[in-house]
Amino acid sequence: MAGTTIAGVIEEFDGLRLVCDPDDSRRPDVVQGVTSAAQTLAGLLVPRPVRTALDLGTGSGVLALTMARRAQHVVACDINPRALDFARRSAHLSGIRNVEWRQGDWYSPVRGQRFELIACNPPYVVSPETQLLFRDGSEATAGVVRTAAEHLVAGGLAEFLINWVHEPDDWIAPLRDWIPPGCDALVVHHATMRPDQYAQTWVPAGPDHDTRVARWLEWYRERGIKAIGAAFLLLRRREDDGRARLQTLEASTRPTPRAGVHVERLLRGTDLASRGDDALRAAALAVVDGVRVEHTTRRRAGAWQPGPATLRVVPTVGVQAVVPGDLLAMLWDLDGTRQLGAVLADLPSENRAEGLALARRLVELGFVEPAAR
Ligand SMILES: C[S@@+](CC[C@H](N)C(=O)[O-])C[C@H]1O[C@@H](n2cnc3c(N)ncnc32)[C@H](O)[C@@H]1O
Repeated sequence: MAGTTIAGVIEEFDGLRLVCDPDDSRRPDVVQGVTSAAQTLAGLLVPRPVRTALDLGTGSGVLALTMARRAQHVVACDINPRALDFARRSAHLSGIRNVEWRQGDWYSPVRGQRFELIACNPPYVVSPETQLLFRDGSEATAGVVRTAAEHLVAGGLAEFLINWVHEPDDWIAPLRDWIPPGCDALVVHHATMRPDQYAQTWVPAGPDHDTRVARWLEWYRERGIKAIGAAFLLLRRREDDGRARLQTLEASTRPTPRAGVHVERLLRGTDLASRGDDALRAAALAVVDGVRVEHTTRRRAGAWQPGPATLRVVPTVGVQAVVPGDLLAMLWDLDGTRQLGAVLADLPSENRAEGLALARRLVELGFVEPAAR
């Protein structure tokens, strides 16, 4: 750092000090501040202690420094030497010393190395433009996701924000090719936009705004692009050779800060659910703290009729769950004092199969988990 002069601004985020370019910078190698995407992914990072972590495309260093609080050692890479200068300065100002900064193209600075946690907020914007290092070059994203498997230890996680082109009625199909063998995947679909919505979102205001939007739309038309999705994608390197699982979830809200707590629950939940019905019945399940239930009860034919309930949780990756009115009573019984099998036995016999399916769904969605003993 000695001898370099960096004219940057300092942004504060979650107790970190991050050096970045001013908002109005037009440099192609601009180092952005803490964008909403960076905040989202920082929140989604699992809060587990790890020995080794990797931040790919570190920019101001926000994800590397967030992980450095729970990792013994972090390697942070970027192709942009200016970003690394900024990020080193961010680490210094934030009092963080366990990050190693390396320059190079994606995984090339970590050839042959494996990590327990990888984070990457790649330049994912799908567009004809190529000049901005932090934003353009979305075609690289699929390769960055696929190659993660070669850099994860068994049980290790890689977390990405992605955008991708898909058919309007099927956002999952293209992503199946992105998941590398040997990895389970979780995809939380946040949104899909039509090309006109997408271009309006990403083309910045300015005198050439309309011309640029028109150029983007022409480019989409030429390629037959009708829909662009946005999601959080997580890979977990399997510890065995079992069949890889792909869990796809639809978000109804944006992820909240500390959503990584929910990510950990989703992982534990899919593990428990995959062990089969007997394992579920044997678990003493409890609704997790932070769950909010909204439902309407109507008076009909002289009796109270509970309508379906919507469950949300904070912190959240953005998903919600629906509990049918006739199974609402079961939800109150999931308090961790009894095995699920005993709770199901209290239901009318015609509701037990549906009750078991609901419990599995709530476990997979991280609304319910085995009570701590
Ligand atoms: C969207 S920014 C994310 C920055 C930071 N991680 C954050 O979340 O704010 C993408 C980053 O990827 C870097 N990048 C672009 N192409 C790259 C490449 N081929 N290899 C490594 N990093 C690259 C950019 O320089 C930029 O810092």
